[in-house]
Amino acid sequence: MITETVETRTREDCARAVARAVEVLANGGVVALPTETVYGLAADATNADAVAGIFEAKHRPLFDPLIVHIADAGMAHLVAEFPSGYEALLKRFWPGPLTVVVPRRPAIPDIVTAGLPTVAVRMPAHPIFREVLECLGKPLAAPSANRFGRISPTTAGHVREELDGRIPLIVAAGPAEHGVESTIVEMERGRLRVLRNGPVSPEQLAGFGEVLEMDEADFPSAPGQLKSHYAPATPLRLGPDNPTPGKRCGLLRFGGGTHLPAGFDRVETLSVDLREAATELFAAMRRLDAAGLDEIVAEPVAEEGIGHAIMDRLRKAAARE
Ligand code: TXA
Ligand code: MG
Repeated sequence: MITETVETRTREDCARAVARAVEVLANGGVVALPTETVYGLAADATNADAVAGIFEAKHRPLFDPLIVHIADAGMAHLVAEFPSGYEALLKRFWPGPLTVVVPRRPAIPDIVTAGLPTVAVRMPAHPIFREVLECLGKPLAAPSANRFGRISPTTAGHVREELDGRIPLIVAAGPAEHGVESTIVEMERGRLRVLRNGPVSPEQLAGFGEVLEMDEADFPSAPGQLKSHYAPATPLRLGPDNPTPGKRCGLLRFGGGTHLPAGFDRVETLSVDLREAATELFAAMRRLDAAGLDEIVAEPVAEEGIGHAIMDRLRKAAARE
C-alpha cells in the first residue's frame, strides 16, 4: 500500500486534506491525524470493520481498548452515558487533553472497548481533527499512530517511520502541542482515579474531586496500562546519570546545556520547563534510539504538574517485560 502524506500549510491544503481524510474514513479506512497530544490513527468508531483496520495496521492486540473522539455533546451522548459529576470536569477541560472512562452505549461496537462495559471518550482540541469529526459526522476511534508497544508519534514524520506502507493517508500538521498522550480519568463516587497521567496534571484535577493514585492491582480493566509501553528498542534506565563503563551510552536530561558529559556518546537536552520538555520528549527518545547506542540513561524529573506524565513515560520506557 502506498502511504500518501497531505500537508495543511494553507487554507486550501487544509480543505483538501480534510476532504481526503473524510473520504477514506467514510469508506471504512484508517487515517493518521494530528491531535494536540500525539498523532492518532483514526477510524469510524461505529464501524467494527473499520476499527479492525486500526488493530491490523498497529499490530495492536484486541484486548487493548481504544479512545473514542467526539466533536460535541451530541456525539458524546451517542457513544456514552455521562453520570452526574462529570459536568464541571468536562466544562473545564474539553475540548482538550483529557479522556474520561464512562459507561458505553450500543452505538460503540465491542471491538472498540475490548468488550468492556465502559468506553474512553475524549473531545480533542486540534482544529484539523475537529474539522474531520464534524465533516464526517461520526465519532472516531483513535489510538496513537505507532506500532504497538512503541513510542507515540508527535510529528507526521514519526507516523511515517511507524506505519509507512500500512495505511493509506497521513495528514501532516506540525509537531503536537503537548507531546504526551491525554490524561485518562474515571470517576468513582465523586473521586477521580487517574488511569494515565498526561497534560492535565493531578494538581489541576484536584479541584474536581479527591484524586486517587493509579493502583495497577485495581486495573485488570485497563489492559493498555501495560508496564512496558512507549519503549525504545535500546534499553533505557532511569538515572543516576553516570554512564555504564564499556557501553555506548546516551543521556536524556532536563537542562544542563548541550555539552557532552564524560563517558557519554550522545546527549539530548530537554528544557527545564517540563511543559516544553514534554513536547520534545518522544522525539528525543526516537533520536537516541536511532543513534546505535547500547544504553540510554534518562534523568528523573520532579513529580509535579506534567512531571507526573514524563516520569510515567520514562518508567514505561525503562520496563522490559
Ligand atoms: O492523547 C491520546 O489519548 C491519544 C490521541 C490520539 O487521542 N490516544 C491514545 O490512545 O493515547 P492509546 O490507544 O494509545 O491509549 C489509550 C489508552 C490505553 O491505555 C487503553 O487501555 C485505555 O486508553 N483505555 C481505553 N478504553 C478504556 C476503558 N474502557 N477503560 C480503561 N482504559 C481504557
Ligand atoms: Mg498508544
